[in-house]
Amino acid sequence: MPFDIDCVRNRLPGRQIYYYESIGSTMQEAARLAAQGCTSGTSVIANEQTAGQGRHGHHWYSERDSGLYVSIVLRPGLPAESFPALTLALGLATAETISRAMDLRCDLRWPNDVLLRDKKVAGILVQLLENGAVAGIGINVNHGHFPSELESEATSLRIESGRAYSREDLLTCLLPAVDSFSKMLAEAGKQAVLDMFSRHCSYAQGRRVRVRQSGGEIEGTTAGLDASGFLILKKDDGGQSLIVTGGVRPA
Ligand code: BTN
Repeated sequence: MPFDIDCVRNRLPGRQIYYYESIGSTMQEAARLAAQGCTSGTSVIANEQTAGQGRHGHHWYSERDSGLYVSIVLRPGLPAESFPALTLALGLATAETISRAMDLRCDLRWPNDVLLRDKKVAGILVQLLENGAVAGIGINVNHGHFPSELESEATSLRIESGRAYSREDLLTCLLPAVDSFSKMLAEAGKQAVLDMFSRHCSYAQGRRVRVRQSGGEIEGTTAGLDASGFLILKKDDGGQSLIVTGGVRPA
């Protein structure tokens, strides 16, 4: 079904929303608008991305008419040390939006993969700007299937529930949720976000995982988040590693 952007604009008056039927990636367009001085909350939505970007240089599968592909310019006025927690706050906003739309609860996989029944249903990419960030959020909404190389890892709201969802309803819920979690971070501070994230993320504590890093793969048991929001990993040799970035997977 085509995306009804006017419906979203009518429900969120005052927000700058740019819409593209097809675009390379919403990230570049949002960064371009940010460089021109657009207001915080300005959002770029696409019905299809031909060069969708994932974390660590991966491609984000962005089938037309099926997913929600959005980049939001954020200027939350945070100190630099709070930016890792912004990533976690965006995961919470996305998980809350999905959980409100359906009966199933989402899990979070540090730092910000959103999971339904252990498969990835949404991903978040944060690009830092001089005075803010671009938050890129991709939600697999009505995909009926995925290319074979993604099938074992990816899912959609429709695959998990057997019914289609309104992307307009999801977006109308997602943008205010992003505002309110960014505000929580700015006003209540990063510890409030870290505590909430730890409660919603089954990977934060006591989980056997392997972590892909530039120097190879390490394995261990997760042992909570540090004060910045990085993942603490207890290794089998008794040592401890702080995971700052990298793909975390069940061991
Ligand atoms: C991840 O690898 O998990 C992050 C995926 C982020 C995808 C979204 S879709 C909207 C925005 N535009 C992009 O090109 N990427 C992000």
